[in-house]
Amino acid sequence: MLDVAAAKRNPFAPGLFAGQVALVTGGGTGIGLACAREFLQLGAKVVIASRKQEKLDAAVAELLAVDAGVDSNRAERLLARVCDIREPEQIKLLVDAVLEKFGRIDVLVNNAGGQFPMPASELSTRGFDAVIRNNLSGTFYVTREVATRAMLPAKQGAIVNVTAMVSRGFPGMMHTGAARAGVENMTQSLAVEWAYADVRVNAVAPGIIRSSGMDQYPPELVAGSVTRTPQKRLGSVEETAHAIVYLASPAALFVTGAVLRIDGGASLWGDLWEIPEREDGVN
Ligand SMILES: NC(=O)c1ccc[n+]([C@@H]2O[C@H](COP(=O)([O-])OP(=O)(O)OC[C@H]3O[C@@H](n4cnc5c(N)ncnc54)[C@H](OP(=O)(O)O)[C@@H]3O)[C@@H](O)[C@H]2O)c1
Repeated sequence: MLDVAAAKRNPFAPGLFAGQVALVTGGGTGIGLACAREFLQLGAKVVIASRKQEKLDAAVAELLAVDAGVDSNRAERLLARVCDIREPEQIKLLVDAVLEKFGRIDVLVNNAGGQFPMPASELSTRGFDAVIRNNLSGTFYVTREVATRAMLPAKQGAIVNVTAMVSRGFPGMMHTGAARAGVENMTQSLAVEWAYADVRVNAVAPGIIRSSGMDQYPPELVAGSVTRTPQKRLGSVEETAHAIVYLASPAALFVTGAVLRIDGGASLWGDLWEIPEREDGVN
């Protein structure tokens, strides 16, 4: 029987990331927060960044409360900064602050992002551009800044991009499908371009994960996604974080350019999008 508690527990060796610095965009909530918690538990110095100060404040309070008794220097290993990944100037200031405080960046998790359900025929130019800018351009802007200023000069680093279940398109959210497919292709290009410097670039493609980001989706979409997932359940933010931490860790030193699907088999079977019946009687 599935041991849900075990699936949520941190499965990695204590101290695995001791001395390393991990930057998690969108680290104040959901999958990003679960990653930040796991990296902190594993000894890393952790930076979380997103647009809203209140989300970061709540995350810091939570991250400092967990395991506080056994880990007294945790506050010194945590930095939270407001940064909009669509704005290269803000990203520059973020990287300035991280390098000033911690002197290096070993791991980058490009997790910040968002989208909304909308049939493509009803999608405005503004809506399309907004999702592309957030989920594709923003990911590149952060990656470029961190790689050129920290990882490539240090000749080491691990980047993990969070995409989505787009291997068969993303009907109903075409904008994010296009953006995430772009990130997966970018992952492959950068894996090759930066292999000379031992900067590894990988991606995880989550299926439907129970997290704060799901609040905006209609409940029937969530229920339908359970029906259409071979494992007949949603994933957890911790299960997604485990995959991200694995790709960032020494266990994956020979893994680069990979896209790891965390979806209970959903991308292999079943679709959320209902195909309308033909109205012309042809079959
Ligand atoms: N949950 C799922 O089923 C699922 C499936 C596939 C992919 N994903 C993707 O996985 C990532 C994490 O998802 P989640 O479920 O944990 O959702 P979430 O809680 O909404 O997390 C998204 C985070 O990104 C931040 N963010 C959004 N736009 C940003 C921007 N322009 N600059 C900086 N930060 C920004 C948000 O914080 P602020 O509002 O403070 O900026 C938020 O903390 C997202 O990219 C999401 O699209 C999720």
